[in-house]
Amino acid sequence: MTNAAIIGTGRHLPDKVLTNADLEKMVETSDEWITSRSGIKERRIAEPGTSASALGLPAAKRALAKAGLSPADLDAIIVPTMTPDMLFPATACLIQRELGAKRAIAFDLQAACSGFIYGLEVGRQFIAAGTYKYVLICATEVMSAVIDWTDRSTCVLFGDGAGAVVLAPCEEGYGILAAHLHSDGREADLIEMPGGGSRNPATQETIAAGLHYLKMKGNEVFKFGVRLMSMSVRHVLAESGIPEEKVDLLIPHQANIRIILAMAERLKIPLEKIYINLYRYGNTSAASIPIALDEALEERRINPNDVVVLSAIGGGLSWGAVCLRWPK
Ligand SMILES: CC(C)(COP(=O)(O)OP(=O)(O)OC[C@H]1O[C@@H](n2cnc3c(N)ncnc32)[C@H](O)[C@@H]1OP(=O)(O)O)[C@@H](O)C(=O)NCCC(=O)NCCS
Repeated sequence: MTNAAIIGTGRHLPDKVLTNADLEKMVETSDEWITSRSGIKERRIAEPGTSASALGLPAAKRALAKAGLSPADLDAIIVPTMTPDMLFPATACLIQRELGAKRAIAFDLQAACSGFIYGLEVGRQFIAAGTYKYVLICATEVMSAVIDWTDRSTCVLFGDGAGAVVLAPCEEGYGILAAHLHSDGREADLIEMPGGGSRNPATQETIAAGLHYLKMKGNEVFKFGVRLMSMSVRHVLAESGIPEEKVDLLIPHQANIRIILAMAERLKIPLEKIYINLYRYGNTSAASIPIALDEALEERRINPNDVVVLSAIGGGLSWGAVCLRWPK
């Protein structure tokens, strides 16, 4: 089995900043409520009409440039997203077209906020099996397009953004050491967008009922989040034979500061070893971890040989973690 490592990362955030003060003018909320319940201070919002592929493309190009590759080198493009350009064709094919990555296969991956963790593991499997050499994983989300801007319980939490990585074969002992994926469809209605698919095709009635907006039972997701993300981190560390104290950086899905603090407490990982940027971007769903990873590398929070753990939970429910040793 060939090991796989991340050899390039990139991110792209829209310029427009929506602050908590701005939200105070849109719904009955306050900076104090949003900050104390979620940790979020501001988020980026794409211009109306911006597609997930348009947001993802610059992130993909940056990841390729850092990897020292050209689009023609790519064997596969995986796009984790819950806000695709269209139901079909895949957003990955649209990014492939714009990149000119003629050789690559391209497909979307739907695991909501866990999409990037799922994408990493799928990419790794292609490399481990010897099927492909270079896999681009480009998570891109235009959450603002599926948010009900009159629903204060969800509209304050999410933001838009894209993050991409290139996976490539690496020497033994480096790259992805272990990955742990899980799903539990019994909790499928905790986060959903009920309209626009085959169950509730878009009609004037479904639109009037707001079925094309994201719905979330935030309270219940919260409890699952802490327990399941901590559990999957423990699982990948055990499988890698690495104790908690040897983790150099934990990058959790950036959904809520209280989930992250509770995880830190359970895992006994000190806060200085946890990367947090949610106060600037909110929850960017599948894009949150690769955006944070790219920033962490830029800030030199990750060095060669470091143990880096990524963990996410999202709709489905789906959750998982990946443990990596950063290549030399
Ligand atoms: C959404 C979340 C911040 C809400 O925090 P909470 O402490 O659970 O708050 P509750 O949902 O119990 O709501 C408490 C009260 O605040 C109100 N409220 C909700 N949103 C509000 C807002 N933006 N501003 C002010 N009040 C708000 C509710 O109406 C409720 O009022 P009530 O008690 O009069 O009914 C929290 O549950 C959370 O972050 N969950 C995880 C969500 C998540 O991360 N999802 C993505 C996973 S991928």
